[in-house]
Amino acid sequence: MRPDASVRSVSEMTSPAKATNIVWHHSTVTRAARAHQRGHRSAILWFTGLSGAGKSTLANAVNSALFEQGLACYVLDGDNVRHGLCSDLGFSDADREENIRRIGEVAKLFLDAGVVVLTAFVSPFQADRQRARELVEAGDFLEIHCAADLEVCEQRDTKGLYAKARAGEIKEFTGISSPYEAPEAPELRVATGEQSLDDSVAQVMAELERRGIIPAPAEP
Ligand code: ADX
Repeated sequence: MRPDASVRSVSEMTSPAKATNIVWHHSTVTRAARAHQRGHRSAILWFTGLSGAGKSTLANAVNSALFEQGLACYVLDGDNVRHGLCSDLGFSDADREENIRRIGEVAKLFLDAGVVVLTAFVSPFQADRQRARELVEAGDFLEIHCAADLEVCEQRDTKGLYAKARAGEIKEFTGISSPYEAPEAPELRVATGEQSLDDSVAQVMAELERRGIIPAPAEP
């Protein structure tokens, strides 16, 4: 349960939408037409996990594997998106909620554009991930939990942020002073704290094949 659940959430504050007199414009090039032309369907691969769990590393490696197979794919990465689209947001619960709301909407556009979009965000709150999931049809959203224990992430501390968080130099740091709500029923759980990157990539690719998102390799 998030600590400030009693506080009005961002979506409550921004909903209903401010703009009126806007009408949805339908594109003549449909998602189905794009899938037919490209030979594969699109999907949202939503990587979630603690900082340092390996979300970005795994998402990038899967992206490379998809790219090598000729698929249209793109990574939306938390640290990168926070330099631009979400540069006005910090790490309060409300700002994280708005961060994930925006990414959910952007990922939905990529889905419509026929792209396999991989999102690598801590996305610590179950309700925020659920909201992103509900923006699209069932089967288009795969939640991939990069499951690494806090001890492992803290020991890795690739960016030195855990040390700063322990020293009190970073407030509201996920796992230390801000909660992480692990997914209860993700489409895939990857033990990124234990297994090799190659094994994790293979696990994700196998799941994408099994779900018909990417074509199975041709028989020799
Ligand atoms: S989220 O919670 O809103 O999903 P997001 O994935 O965009 O977070 O950004 C997390 C990244 O920002 C981490 O990988 C880390 O490098 C950095 N970061 C800086 N401050 C914090 C913090 N207080 N909590 C978590 N990550 C932080």
